[in-house]
Amino acid sequence: MKKEQVVSCQFSVWYPIFKKLTIKSRILPLPQDVIEYLLDDGTLVVSGSDHDTQQVFNNNSSDVEEDVQWSDDETTTTVTAPEFPEFTSKVLEAINALGGSVFPKLNWSAPRDANWIALNSSLQCHSLSDIFLLFKSSDFITHDLTQPFLQCSDQDSPDPVIKYELVLRRWSELIPGGEFRCFVKENKLIAISQRDYTQFYQHILKQEQQIRQALQDFFSQHVQFRFPGEDFVLDVYRDSNGKVWLIDLNPFGEVTDSLLFTWEELTSGGGQSQQQEDLVFRYTTSEVTVQPSPCLSYRIPRDFVDLSTGEDAYKLIDFLKLKKNQQEEEEEEEGGVTVTSTD
Ligand SMILES: Nc1ncnc2c1ncn2[C@@H]1O[C@H](COP(=O)(O)OP(=O)(O)O)[C@@H](O)[C@H]1O
Ligand SMILES: [Mg+2]
Repeated sequence: MKKEQVVSCQFSVWYPIFKKLTIKSRILPLPQDVIEYLLDDGTLVVSGSDHDTQQVFNNNSSDVEEDVQWSDDETTTTVTAPEFPEFTSKVLEAINALGGSVFPKLNWSAPRDANWIALNSSLQCHSLSDIFLLFKSSDFITHDLTQPFLQCSDQDSPDPVIKYELVLRRWSELIPGGEFRCFVKENKLIAISQRDYTQFYQHILKQEQQIRQALQDFFSQHVQFRFPGEDFVLDVYRDSNGKVWLIDLNPFGEVTDSLLFTWEELTSGGGQSQQQEDLVFRYTTSEVTVQPSPCLSYRIPRDFVDLSTGEDAYKLIDFLKLKKNQQEEEEEEEGGVTVTSTD
C-alpha cells in the first residue's frame, strides 16, 4: 500500500464522486487549535456551551427552594475547557442540516473503539461535546491524526500534506447483517466478506446468490473505473429493499481489516489453480463460529493496557514508585513500632 492510496481514500476525495450512492454528509475543516485539543491528553473536559442540559435543569428546579449542591469538596479544582465558538456554531448548523443527529468521523476513521464511553453506548451525536468525548477517547482517531501512513510501503517518500476534516454523516440505523466489505484489486471485485463476521445471519445464508449479484452489479454499474486508483476496499450496505449503498472506502492493505479473509490470500491473487474471474463471498455460516466483538478489547481503560504491555514508560515508573512506597510502609510496620488501637 502506497501513501497515495491512503490519500485517495480520504472521505473528502471519494464523497464528491459517489455522493448519490451514499449517506448525506457534511465536511468541515478541522481548525489547528481543535486538533491540538483532541491530541492533548490532559483535557478531557468539554465545554458545556453547546449543551442545553444545564438550562433544562435550571428550568425544572425553578420551583425548588434549595439549590442542589453537587459537591462540597473544597479541593475540587475547576478545569476550564477550551471554547471554539466559531467551529461550534458551524458544527451545530451542520448537525441541524443533517436532521439533528450525526455519525462523526475524521478523514478515514470513526471512533468505533470508543462508543462504550458515550452515555448511549453509540456513536450517535447531537452536539460538538458528544463528538469531542468520542474523539478524545478513541485510538482510531489518534491514529488518523498522528500516523495515517504508518503501514505504507513507501516510507522513504515524504508524507503527503493532510488537511484534517470533521465528517458528519446523517445518522442512519444500519442493520449489521446488511453490511458487507468488498475487496477490489486491479479494478476487479475479487472478494466479499460479511462485515459483522462475529454473528451468524440466517438471511445471508438464504440469500447468498442475490447478495453476491447485487454487490457485483453495484460495483460494476457505479464504482468500477470511477475511483482514482485500482486497488481499494469498499464498504456497502444492502437495505431491506435490496438497494445497495456505499458506506465507506478504505485502502487495500493491512490498515484495513480483512475480516473473513487474510491479506495474504487477498494479495496473492488466489494462486494459479484459481480462476481470476472467481469472486469469493465469505460469511459466517453457523452459530458455532460466533466470536466476541472485535472492539471489546478497547473497553479496558488505556492506562491498564499501557501498564500491562509496558507501552508507556512514565505510567510504569509511577506504578513502580507507588509499589515501592507501599513496600517501604510495610517494612516500617514490620520492623518498627506496631501501632495498635488503644480502645
Ligand atoms: N451514517 C451512519 N449512521 C449510523 N451508523 C453508521 C453510519 N455510517 C456508518 N455507520 C456504522 O459505523 C460503522 C463504521 O463506519 P465507517 O464509516 O466504515 O467507519 P470506519 O472506517 O472507521 O470503520 C459502519 O460499519 C456502520 O455500522
Ligand atoms: Mg473505513
